[in-house]
Amino acid sequence: MQRFSFVLIFVLVLITEVKATVNDNNDELSWTTAMGNARNTRRLIPSLATEFNGSTWTTIFNSSSQDTTVFGAGAGINGDLYLFVTDSRYGSADYMLCLTTNGDIRWKMYLESPPRMMNTAVSNIVSDQKNNLLYYTSTWADTGSFVSKICRVFYPQTHHPAQECVNTYKISSNFLAPLALSTKADLLITSVIENAPAAFNTTTFEMLWSDSETMGSDPSADYKADPFTGDIYWIGGDDVMGKMDSNGTRLFINDTNSGGNRDFALDSRRQIVVRAWQNMSDHDWPLIVSAWNVENTGLHERWQWKDDNNNTMNTDCTPPMLDAQNGITYFVNLPYAIALDTNTGNRRWQTEVVTKSDMDNLDLAAECTAFNEQSRVLYVFVKSTKAPFKLMLIAVHADTGKILRQMDVARTDSKIVKSFCPMLIGNEMIYISWLTGAYPDLVPLTITGVPQLS
Ligand SMILES: *[C@@H]1O[C@H](CO)[C@@H](O)[C@H](O)[C@H]1NC(C)=O
Ligand SMILES: *[C@@H]1O[C@H](CO)[C@@H](O)[C@H](O)[C@H]1NC(C)=O
Ligand SMILES: *[C@@H]1O[C@H](CO)[C@@H](O)[C@H](O)[C@H]1NC(C)=O
Ligand SMILES: *[C@@H]1O[C@H](CO)[C@@H](O)[C@H](O)[C@H]1NC(C)=O
Ligand SMILES: *[C@@H]1O[C@H](CO)[C@@H](O)[C@H](O)[C@H]1NC(C)=O
Ligand SMILES: *[C@@H]1O[C@H](CO)[C@@H](O)[C@H](O)[C@H]1NC(C)=O
Ligand SMILES: *[C@@H]1O[C@H](CO)[C@@H](O)[C@H](O)[C@H]1NC(C)=O
Repeated sequence: MQRFSFVLIFVLVLITEVKATVNDNNDELSWTTAMGNARNTRRLIPSLATEFNGSTWTTIFNSSSQDTTVFGAGAGINGDLYLFVTDSRYGSADYMLCLTTNGDIRWKMYLESPPRMMNTAVSNIVSDQKNNLLYYTSTWADTGSFVSKICRVFYPQTHHPAQECVNTYKISSNFLAPLALSTKADLLITSVIENAPAAFNTTTFEMLWSDSETMGSDPSADYKADPFTGDIYWIGGDDVMGKMDSNGTRLFINDTNSGGNRDFALDSRRQIVVRAWQNMSDHDWPLIVSAWNVENTGLHERWQWKDDNNNTMNTDCTPPMLDAQNGITYFVNLPYAIALDTNTGNRRWQTEVVTKSDMDNLDLAAECTAFNEQSRVLYVFVKSTKAPFKLMLIAVHADTGKILRQMDVARTDSKIVKSFCPMLIGNEMIYISWLTGAYPDLVPLTITGVPQLS
């Protein structure tokens, strides 16, 4: 009897453990199913050793003059970084590059291209951690025609990757195509001609469905797939949020209010979406952060956060970051980092992460946040838009709001035209990248690797 209950307890403990692990992984895998690692940056947990030796490094790619250089980077199961680079001054992407966590080039692979056609667009790079594959799309054109390709990359963790592409005329992009992976339903989600959402089989690349009546999922749409249900969400250029199930059945199409970017965060466990926007019907255009329930009956506002800091001059807000495990929503509206309860909208903490005088003197803007759920550190990424141009990372304790450290990541003489969100690799390191300069001059892409706060 005693033995039996011991076994039972052991099994129960095992089940609880497995469940906890699955939940953790789902949260931290969810960024691979959003648009690359675009904005809601969570930690990636590598399944192979990263071999990061702890040294900070910086690499500069000087070749492009386009200040729109594509950078839909992804990270692999060993923490490597995958990105598109070009050798031509005016092109967008010639090859994919793999950098190790120590900043060494592991490989360089030319994109499969049709003869005598120019690359006009690529998607972000989607990293499928479960199957150790990468996916991307590319569009090629000459004077009269175009063709697009959907591709997968095998063995990205070795020195000899291989790619396999299928031509399609369904996708046509001018610059950047959004691509997301639904790990639950084994689908690649992207926008097809007429800006309609569509799903492709990850194995055959056959288009399974598209919804031509649902336009507005333009290249800026940020697709997210719910890791539990396989449902797909996006906000298009018309501020409308769409939700579809993995068979392409429309669940709702609802207006998310005016004036905002398309970034949103999804708490799939609570079925809540959070987004920052500005109420353009109000003459002050106030910044608002709203949470909506996103069950299949439509979008229903749950709570609104309104700025009570008299901070009306600053309507800049980072895309919200959700800690689904603990039900917390984080965002930054300088000078503050703010944590709210995701269920109620009640404030947990608020911290002044920069001083008001620095904010004015250096013209500071918060770009985004990156979150390590395990070490409980929220990294706030701030740039100064006045010379000397600076990038800073401010580490804040996610439970108390206490500032742990402020790091100067870069200081440059040329204007930072675009910075990309930091990517956290395990508990070890962070990739940070940015573009400086302006067309028609060169617009170098700088990438740096720094250790995480330990
Ligand atoms: C780009 O230019 C910088 C400064 O001139 C130089 O330090 C760096 O090595 C160059 N990078 C590459 C990849 O050529
Ligand atoms: C870490 O790796 C880089 C690139 O291989 C190398 O240049 C650097 O010296 C290494 N640092 C240490 C502390 O081993
Ligand atoms: C994708 O195609 C493969 C091979 O034909 C098939 O086994 C799989 O069920 C398809 N998946 C979906 C989601 O349709
Ligand atoms: C999609 O369609 C298949 C076949 O009709 C069905 O078995 C499955 O339950 C559907 N999935 C969803 C999410 O509705
Ligand atoms: C939201 O979408 C649902 C389902 O498509 C629709 O019935 C409802 O009228 C929409 N609500 C608004 C406010 O647009
Ligand atoms: C936007 O502001 C207007 C004017 O103050 C107000 O009537 C409206 O309810 C606000 N919209 C939302 C969704 O809060
Ligand atoms: C904002 O302004 C109001 C009215 O001037 C004042 O009562 C309130 O204390 C101010 N709030 C903060 C956080 O400064």
